[in-house]
Amino acid sequence: MSDKKSLACIILAAGQGKRMKSTLPKVLHPIAGRPMIGWLLDSIKPLNPEKVIVVTAPDCPAVAEAVNPYETAIQQKALGTGDAVKAALPALEGFKGDVLILLGDMPLIDTATLQALIDARYKDTKTGLSVLGVEFETPPAFGRLVLGPDGALAKIVEDRDCSADERSIKLCNTGAFCVDGLELPGWVERISNNNAQNEFYITDLVSIAAQDGVKAHAYITRDHDSVRGVNSRADLAALEAIVQGRLRTQAMENGATLLDPASVYFSWDTVLGSDVVVEPNVFFGPGVMVGNETRICAYSHIEGASIGTGCSVGPFARVRPKSSLGNKVTIGNFIEVNRSRMEDGSKAKHVSYLGDAAIGSKTNIGAGTVIANYDGYAKHKTIIGEGVFIGTNTTLVAPLTIGDGALVAAGSTITKDVPADALAVAREKAMIKDGWAAARRAKKKAS
Ligand code: UD1
Ligand code: MG
Repeated sequence: MSDKKSLACIILAAGQGKRMKSTLPKVLHPIAGRPMIGWLLDSIKPLNPEKVIVVTAPDCPAVAEAVNPYETAIQQKALGTGDAVKAALPALEGFKGDVLILLGDMPLIDTATLQALIDARYKDTKTGLSVLGVEFETPPAFGRLVLGPDGALAKIVEDRDCSADERSIKLCNTGAFCVDGLELPGWVERISNNNAQNEFYITDLVSIAAQDGVKAHAYITRDHDSVRGVNSRADLAALEAIVQGRLRTQAMENGATLLDPASVYFSWDTVLGSDVVVEPNVFFGPGVMVGNETRICAYSHIEGASIGTGCSVGPFARVRPKSSLGNKVTIGNFIEVNRSRMEDGSKAKHVSYLGDAAIGSKTNIGAGTVIANYDGYAKHKTIIGEGVFIGTNTTLVAPLTIGDGALVAAGSTITKDVPADALAVAREKAMIKDGWAAARRAKKKAS
């Protein structure tokens, strides 16, 4: 509608989250590798709010950091959702638009639902606020939406304050509101704590507005997933499952094959190219990009890494943060790549640790190669050139440079730089005694 006003958002996140039994503030618990409040902020963004204020408890610098550049306001004591909104008002001084009030622990609400909630606030000229409702066959302990004869919202009654009749109502309050910002400060002042929990309830806005002849409307969503809240670890797991389902679908829609979608775990920002094949039981931590036509084999764990096109990774590979694989790179079973770069066509097919290394193109790392990058105090770099052959069971003690085309013999422990095209052998010479084993057997038999 053309006469809609500008928008501000208040996100309530100062509750204690007791049932999580955690030292981490609830809104920072991750869903698909991202703090839950990040999901909420993402949904708000397309609405172009002028201001977003996140209400937190005192001493929660981690929340302020996570929501940066948005502002935080501190609620000194958790006296209820009405008091939490009040704590945000000084930051909205002089703001004349609409205020969206959202709960930090209801992170999956989508932009379209928020837009519908804002639209409900403009149902007619007498409407000053809207409430996002949802219907449950068997309602949880949510506030109930009591509708008047005209279909407008008459009041919200918290579960604990419900009469038996009110408790049988199936329409519930999700906790999300859109309120005329001109009226909000005055209405909030009038909220009392005269209820079963002695808390200041933001839900009282509905009846307070009615006293002023201002109507409230409910927008009822049918999308239960988008209004699910997190109060416990079980809720957190339920939301994780919803998000993983979406991310798997998205990956397949974008052209990746997932052999067993339910066993693949994505992060919110995982990017898979087209014709990527992901075998069962693969975990993608945050910050992973995989190029086209790469195969990620079963039981691989990848985070903070970019992988080029046409690569083969795993089974049982671990690619750790700050790593990158060029194109057509192969890493096989039990390979750990950590803070390392492997150039195009390089290979490490069996049982190796490659840490703090730069590995040139078409270089072959033999089975059982270990880069000793740590001396007990600091990490050191290893630079391996192009077309190098590292024999099996080799230890490369960093800092170290191995020139292009060099060959390191199997079983070596290399502590000095190896020039290009050189052979490096660093192992005991073999001693062979003809007939020794047969003589030993004969001696044993005789005794
Ligand atoms: C609230 C609603 C209820 C609704 C339900 C949906 C009120 C009074 N009740 O109840 O109608 O059905 O959500 O989940 O609003 N918070 C603060 N400061 C406080 C108290 C809470 O910031 O002093 C924050 C919490 O961090 C949380 C949110 O507000 O993110 C909701 O608080 P909570 O105590 O969980 O409210 P409910 O009892 O669930
Ligand atoms: Mg709650």
